[in-house]
Amino acid sequence: MKFITENDLRDLNRKEPFTTYELEPGARLTPGARQFLSDLRINMVDSDPCTNKNSINVYYFFRNKETFDRIRKLIFPEFKKKETVYIWSAGCAAGEEPYSITILLKEENITNYKIFATDIDTEAIKKAKEGIYTIDKFIETPEYIIKNYFNKINSGFKILETLKNNVIFLIHDIIKEPPLNSFDLVLCRNVVIYFIKEKQIKVFENLYKSLKRGGCLVLGKTEFLPMEFYDKFEYIDKKERILRKV
Ligand SMILES: C[S@@+](CC[C@H](N)C(=O)[O-])C[C@H]1O[C@@H](n2cnc3c(N)ncnc32)[C@H](O)[C@@H]1O
Repeated sequence: MKFITENDLRDLNRKEPFTTYELEPGARLTPGARQFLSDLRINMVDSDPCTNKNSINVYYFFRNKETFDRIRKLIFPEFKKKETVYIWSAGCAAGEEPYSITILLKEENITNYKIFATDIDTEAIKKAKEGIYTIDKFIETPEYIIKNYFNKINSGFKILETLKNNVIFLIHDIIKEPPLNSFDLVLCRNVVIYFIKEKQIKVFENLYKSLKRGGCLVLGKTEFLPMEFYDKFEYIDKKERILRKV
């Protein structure tokens, strides 16, 4: 049996518009490849009766948990020295990412912060403000976090109201609109893979402007800093795609 990996699909985002990927008979996608297609919102024509597209949880709390562990270890100690910490989650989907950060800040007793969480998708922002999630959103979340920070309700798990206080959700297009600015930390994970090179450059210009000097940028694990920005950022953790504005 042939396995299609994420690497095999890497240049698909260059082919706009590209809305359907047809899986050849007998081939299987690895979980990484499946996630890659979902991130690009590419529909898949799948001849494999054993696979269920809907079983993939694309956006969830603490997605790539090691990245959150590294943010906590490398960046949060600096936050403890600041009067107020400003964080931007750009392309925040339905709030899983900014709420994950809020929970980690709470765990570290960092209370003086503001998170701006933005997305182009109106429906996603509406869901984020509601803060209600089904159990499949917690595949990488420790049990005690669910217990301590969510209330079980009929339709799922609702984030504690107190955790919503410091998170401001806004509809915002990261390519077309001016960036928000003066941030200590910006997360823009699994967003630029959507875009052709020219748009990626525009996004990186905006991300650069949005950060304070010395502020940190976190990209998705399959995303890279374009070479045009090599002198503007340095990696503080290359594997987890954590960079600092120089
Ligand atoms: C794959 S999701 C990533 C969600 C989250 N950052 C994560 O890593 O789990 C990409 C998000 O980017 C948003 N997005 C796409 N184009 C955008 C744009 N031009 N401006 C802002 N958000 C955008 C999509 O609506 C989607 O919610």
